[in-house]
Amino acid sequence: MIVAIDGPAAAGKGTLARRLAEAFNLAYLDTGSLYRATGVATLRAGGDPAVEADAVKAAKALDTTTFSPADLRTEQAGTAASQVAFIPAVRAALLDFQRNFAKNPPPGSSGAVLDGRDIGTVVCPDADAKLFITASLEARVQRRVKELRDKGESFIEARVRADMEARDARDQDRSVAPLVPAQDAWILDTTALTADEAFAQAKAFIASKVKR
Ligand code: DC
Repeated sequence: MIVAIDGPAAAGKGTLARRLAEAFNLAYLDTGSLYRATGVATLRAGGDPAVEADAVKAAKALDTTTFSPADLRTEQAGTAASQVAFIPAVRAALLDFQRNFAKNPPPGSSGAVLDGRDIGTVVCPDADAKLFITASLEARVQRRVKELRDKGESFIEARVRADMEARDARDQDRSVAPLVPAQDAWILDTTALTADEAFAQAKAFIASKVKR
């Protein structure tokens, strides 16, 4: 079984995907981390994530074992990720890895769940279940603010909002694989839902899709 989860930044995709993976014995791939790793690798090499040659070189040589989760979760990594994700040749370089993971998940799992921006539309158009997780800009800003506060990081709320808007615009307006729900995706708006409520609804949706 392949489950595709797409949606904008901070809509709650990651938490949901992890919990669904556990509930249905699926292997989980956070595809945003591949773009984040490419962005950080470009910076580490002294390159510019917005320059095609620099970003493609990093994507082709990507070794995900050289990054800790903390390296990839910074705002700088998120911004660099959305810049490299804008470049079609970077997306092409990361496509095979994602498709292979979906088709050949680690032994013992019953399938895979991938989350990102273009899983239901480009990476796994034949997925058995497609979810598009969204939430209002304000709800997503408040979740990110809480995350930063919980981590003890200093932040300026207006900056968090501006960064989120810029990232949304880059994700939605790019010509290749823009963030749009697949035609056959089930849309879950989590603005007014707790994480537990969102999980319960998504789980019921996927259960209804499981082949018996
Ligand atoms: O989900 P995230 O914040 O970790 O994603 C980081 C960036 O990577 C985001 O700006 C969009 C991009 N991305 C993408 O273009 N396609 C994906 N499948 C996953 C992420």
